[in-house]
Amino acid sequence: MREDLLTPAALPDDDIVETTLRPQTIDEFVGQTKLKERLAISIEAARSLGLPLDHVLLSGPPGLGKTTMAGILANEMGSRLKVTSGPALERPGDVASILTNLDKGDVFFIDEIHRLPRAVEEVLYPAMEDFQLDIVLGKGPSAQSIRLDLPRFTLVGATTRKGKVAAPLRDRFGIVDKLDYYTQEELARIVHRSASILDVQITDGGAELIALRGRGTPRISNRLLARVRDYAVARAGGVADATTATAALEVFEVDEKGLDKVDREILEAIVVKFGGGPVGLSTLAIVVGEEPETVEDAYEPFLLQIGFLKRTPRGRVATSAAYTHLGLEPPATAQQTLLD
Ligand SMILES: Nc1ncnc2c1ncn2[C@@H]1O[C@H](COP(=O)(O)OP(=O)(O)OP(=O)(O)O)[C@@H](O)[C@H]1O
Ligand SMILES: [Mg+2]
Repeated sequence: MREDLLTPAALPDDDIVETTLRPQTIDEFVGQTKLKERLAISIEAARSLGLPLDHVLLSGPPGLGKTTMAGILANEMGSRLKVTSGPALERPGDVASILTNLDKGDVFFIDEIHRLPRAVEEVLYPAMEDFQLDIVLGKGPSAQSIRLDLPRFTLVGATTRKGKVAAPLRDRFGIVDKLDYYTQEELARIVHRSASILDVQITDGGAELIALRGRGTPRISNRLLARVRDYAVARAGGVADATTATAALEVFEVDEKGLDKVDREILEAIVVKFGGGPVGLSTLAIVVGEEPETVEDAYEPFLLQIGFLKRTPRGRVATSAAYTHLGLEPPATAQQTLLD
């Protein structure tokens, strides 16, 4: 490899970095202490009983570690991992062909499981419950149904929208759990861990600053780390300390709450264009030029969590904290909203 390809600027793109940074074992997985404890108990029990792990449904906002945890479950069980996603399984045959190729104990991971077509879900019900697959051969009156035995496998489903997972599907998971936003201390540990894997020189102050702006989310914290590293290398002698991190995040327009341009556009739209709200999700999405689902899944949960946004039956409302954050005077009604 050429020497210049080894410089930090030629580090792999964010997606490759994301894979490199994935913890492989429960111990390496930072935070989510209670979830880890519960999963570790089930893993140990399954191992000592010589059974596959029960089916697991994980929910939570994007970037908190659902896919990572699915990989860890397979690793800890010493099993193979088969990965697919709800939208990729279009027809019953798509899921049937995966199921018939599973071996005993395999972990079958379905990302975005709330987006499975109904007909595919129906194939999963007997597969999850009785490890059986019903196949219909032929059409019309001569059609025949046969039952195939499947190996005992573990289905791991991930979703950003637990409410959209059909109840009969949700009920067939033995373990249903969720991931929460990380504390700043946990994020700082993740940033330090990532920095050492990526060979980035970082101080405690630098890691803390990134954690403060990482929106409680490992994926976002890791991305911010990559941008801070770029800035440190290109403009500041290579070390990511608090001063460098502050300067870098200013250039990349990440503010002191970790809000990026789109977050601020959402808040500004509600406050300026719609007088503080309420405004409907689809209108809001059009104004900021994003899909409603992206606004609802990727942006809103954090704005709700930090108390900048409220959902009301009539639409989204900005709180007085949002006004203050934007440097605006909250109107009496917004203050009222906060007191509700
Ligand atoms: N607990 C953790 N400790 C260390 N790193 C983590 C942790 N959780 C997530 N990460 C890092 O964050 C990145 C994103 O995690 P992951 O892809 O598992 O999120 P996700 O919940 O599946 O997101 P999505 O809903 O978008 O699919 C991973 O690359 C991983 O490196
Ligand atoms: Mg994922």
